[in-house]
Amino acid sequence: MTTSDQLIIRDLRVAPIGAPEHEILKGIDLTVGPGEVHAIMGPNGSGKTTLAYALMGHPAYVVTGGTVTWKGHNLLKMSPDKRARIGMFLAFQYPTAIPGLSVASFIRSALNAKRGGLVPDPSIDPTDAIRGGISMGDFRRKMREKMALLKVDEAFASRYVNEGFSGGEKKRLEMLQMAVLEPEMAILDETDSGLDIDALRIVAEGVNAMLNPAMGVLLITHYQRLLNYIKPDVVHVLALGRIVKTGGRDLALRLEDEGYGPILREEGLEIDVPDEALLVAEPVEAAR
Ligand SMILES: Nc1ncnc2c1ncn2[C@@H]1O[C@H](COP(=O)(O)OP(=O)(O)O)[C@@H](O)[C@H]1O
Ligand SMILES: [Mg+2]
Repeated sequence: MTTSDQLIIRDLRVAPIGAPEHEILKGIDLTVGPGEVHAIMGPNGSGKTTLAYALMGHPAYVVTGGTVTWKGHNLLKMSPDKRARIGMFLAFQYPTAIPGLSVASFIRSALNAKRGGLVPDPSIDPTDAIRGGISMGDFRRKMREKMALLKVDEAFASRYVNEGFSGGEKKRLEMLQMAVLEPEMAILDETDSGLDIDALRIVAEGVNAMLNPAMGVLLITHYQRLLNYIKPDVVHVLALGRIVKTGGRDLALRLEDEGYGPILREEGLEIDVPDEALLVAEPVEAAR
């Protein structure tokens, strides 16, 4: 492994584009190598999604300081599609519906765009199965294989993207995209939320089956239960825009027992919500 294979985040500071003086992320340092699974845990509002968005280049955020490099690229200078073309992937916490666009067309376009590489050949039309895109037959085979992996019904492919999907179906579609796109850096933003325990297990098994020595994973979660299924190499606690503690799986188990309150106090942080709001217990009811 060379350092250029590692995603290297140094002193990353991020603010909403409309209020650049109000930093949400106040200096994040993180290094994720190929084959490593890093869990990012943190209370609601700690900046987890902001980190995911900033890494992918979401236009609602401005990077006010720091650097992010990967595979020899200054990621912060690249548009989101270029980041995806070099192998980054973000599974959204709240995926958007796109009525009129089928799951199959959507994923096929994404796959073809990714295969086009960083500097796509303008003479090739990636939407054309013959001139550049993956053939229909190959694509169908791939989709079938990945849908089986994630135990989704084949009818899923012809539905419109997230339109009328349950919370669990939305998360499975995110995982299906990841399975087909085969990223080398996958950021999963609360892929466990909205899943009941059976769906959680299926999705986690799917993610485990995708893990490979070439792929790094940032597994963002509020709850520790996902980590019963997907075993992280490292666990980071994000609070108030900073990584306040890094440890192994035992850290996640401690959070499950104690909630975030004690650890945050131990690190000298003043939190203005009651400890009950900082619990890590399993949600009583699946969110949405
Ligand atoms: N685009 C935005 N504009 C203004 N405030 C934002 C924006 N995105 C996030 N925030 C604020 O930043 C904080 C962190 O949000 P978020 O990253 O979504 O946290 P998490 O995913 O950990 O729950 C919250 O207080 C949230 O309201
Ligand atoms: Mg979030």
